[in-house]
Amino acid sequence: MAVIALQGFRGGTGTTSVTAALAWGLAQLNEKVLVIDFSPENLLRLHFGMPFAQARGWHYAHSAGEHWQQSAMRYHSHLDFLPYGYSSPESGNFAKFDWGKAIEQIKNTGVYDWILIDSPAADPGPAQAIADSTLVLVHADTQSHIRLHQHILPANGRYLLNQFVPSSQLQQDILLLWQETLPALIPVILHRDEAMAESLAAKQPVGEWKGNSKISREMNTLANWFLLNLRHPKDVRSQIK
Ligand SMILES: Nc1ncnc2c1ncn2[C@@H]1O[C@H](COP(=O)(O)OP(=O)(O)OP(=O)(O)O)[C@@H](O)[C@H]1O
Ligand SMILES: [Mg+2]
Repeated sequence: MAVIALQGFRGGTGTTSVTAALAWGLAQLNEKVLVIDFSPENLLRLHFGMPFAQARGWHYAHSAGEHWQQSAMRYHSHLDFLPYGYSSPESGNFAKFDWGKAIEQIKNTGVYDWILIDSPAADPGPAQAIADSTLVLVHADTQSHIRLHQHILPANGRYLLNQFVPSSQLQQDILLLWQETLPALIPVILHRDEAMAESLAAKQPVGEWKGNSKISREMNTLANWFLLNLRHPKDVRSQIK
């Protein structure tokens, strides 16, 4: 089993949408996936049709002294998700929750092939420490290019380009530059596609909403790339070294 954290280089890069879409793509390849929301915004669940008013989630259960395991929900025979849940501002994001232990417990059940963690850009909490690999989502813009120079990629980290607009000369140039100089850039490029934006309105992962869209086909390619490159955490470490 592999634990992968997805995190924005900054806010709004598409981490939550991509995490939901990737989970769907992996489930379509018969992989068993658990997706966990580490963000107090608690939005990941909305990609899996959960009613907005439901408070259920790991953080909510933990704050109420209940078992967090019972907060997981089944979306598909191969896809479960664990919402963050309702939280009050004073409850603290990761206070007193031992995620290292929780991940070990999940691993020991032997149920899942993948755990995907949707971690917020501003405060990823323990995500990088518990993950075998971290994907940092970036946009091909000048601000990101400048900030790459002062960014420290987590151990076993890679960059994933999302919302690429090929009609932009600037984005094309930045992509070319990154392809030549940024070895940690994943070779699968995710384009900006209206179907991705629609999928949240439809409360579905994009592959379910519009399976034939460009972004859904790219997500399937990314899921296959995951199988080849990240499924066995030990392989990842030796590749990056
Ligand atoms: N490839 C894409 N094409 C078009 N729209 C996209 C794409 N990826 C994400 N979006 C849109 O960008 C917006 C932000 O996406 P999302 O909420 O997934 O980002 P995020 O990085 O999780 O944000 P936050 O930092 O607030 O957690 C949403 O409206 C989403 O539909
Ligand atoms: Mg998000």
